Amino acid sequence: MADEPAVEAIGLEKSYGQVRVLAGIDLSVPRGSVFSLLGPNGAGKTTTVRILSTLVRADAGRVRVAGFDVVRDRRAVRRRISLTGQYAALDGEQTGEENLRMTARLSGLSRREARERAAELLERFDLTGAARRRVDTYSGGMRRRLDIAASLVGRPEVVFLDEPTTGLDPRSRQAMWDLVASLAGSGTTVFLTTQYLEEADRLADRVTLLDAGRVVAEGAPADLKRRVADRRLDLTLVDPAAYARTAERLGDTAVLRDPDRLLLGVPTDGSAAHVRALLDGVDPDRDTVDRFAVYEATLDDVFLALTGRTAARRTDGAPAENAATTAPAATAREETTRV
Ligand SMILES: Nc1ncnc2c1ncn2[C@@H]1O[C@H](COP(=O)(O)OP(=O)(O)OP(=O)(O)O)[C@@H](O)[C@H]1O
Ligand SMILES: [Mg+2]
Repeated sequence: MADEPAVEAIGLEKSYGQVRVLAGIDLSVPRGSVFSLLGPNGAGKTTTVRILSTLVRADAGRVRVAGFDVVRDRRAVRRRISLTGQYAALDGEQTGEENLRMTARLSGLSRREARERAAELLERFDLTGAARRRVDTYSGGMRRRLDIAASLVGRPEVVFLDEPTTGLDPRSRQAMWDLVASLAGSGTTVFLTTQYLEEADRLADRVTLLDAGRVVAEGAPADLKRRVADRRLDLTLVDPAAYARTAERLGDTAVLRDPDRLLLGVPTDGSAAHVRALLDGVDPDRDTVDRFAVYEATLDDVFLALTGRTAARRTDGAPAENAATTAPAATAREETTRV
């Protein structure tokens, strides 16, 4: 059926020994959309992807992918999907072109078709210049692109990408984002896992937040963000006296108080009129507020609001901020913020 979801999972459960990895999760991904499964290390993302892509059997639950049951019609599912994991399954001793041609031949294309398909994919993934080079000499980003190119040889309906940008530099990450967008644009369903909030936010039509094998939230990124304070006006006061005065004036309206940084935050809809009115109300003589920023909620805030904690470290290795004492920096929305 054309309107059947590309991926539908109901009540997925999985344990390894005593460890309950998935505690009954439901997912539904419309055809042609980009879906992101977001969660910290160990949340169960890879396990979910492995079940959906027929590599692992769930202990309980039902899964249909591309219209077929992953257990009963495993082969039919496999013909319609591709899976790209974090570690590319490429032959480093062969060139990029040879890898693609080999994959194409294995998927049943004739020699000529394989050559044409390889050329087409190399072009699409901006690898034509490196086509005749051994994959050993490719950068991480090039390898990742080639790996995805190889997974598209058979024109899958559903593409699973398990953390496609982990470990990539910002430029390669951007290239990967463009690629996902173009895949979706061509009608392919993309199911990606990520630890990067920014990534889910940018790419996905819908996001499911997974934590310790449970779904803690799901929806469009914008809907999820709306569940926490949507936008906030953060005011940096000129000195401690101004901070004290303003904090008293704002009373309960202040949703963020950070005396060390002389920072106070109040909810706003972000419109110029509202921000202006707030500023005038707080600082009629224009001598109290040093700077202001309109802070937009991130999925990080959502995760925090729903689980009561930040789930992991920042990519720079610094400990996760504790929201009870510090608010996320108003303007520095890190690209690499992890859940
Ligand atoms: N084959 C296995 N045997 C035993 N435990 C496993 C196995 N596979 C996964 N686990 C456990 O299941 C939990 C979830 O693992 P999974 O790989 O699905 O998480 P993840 O969300 O993909 O994490 P990451 O972000 O680190 O990739 C972890 O605690 C992991 O140790
Ligand atoms: Mg994983």
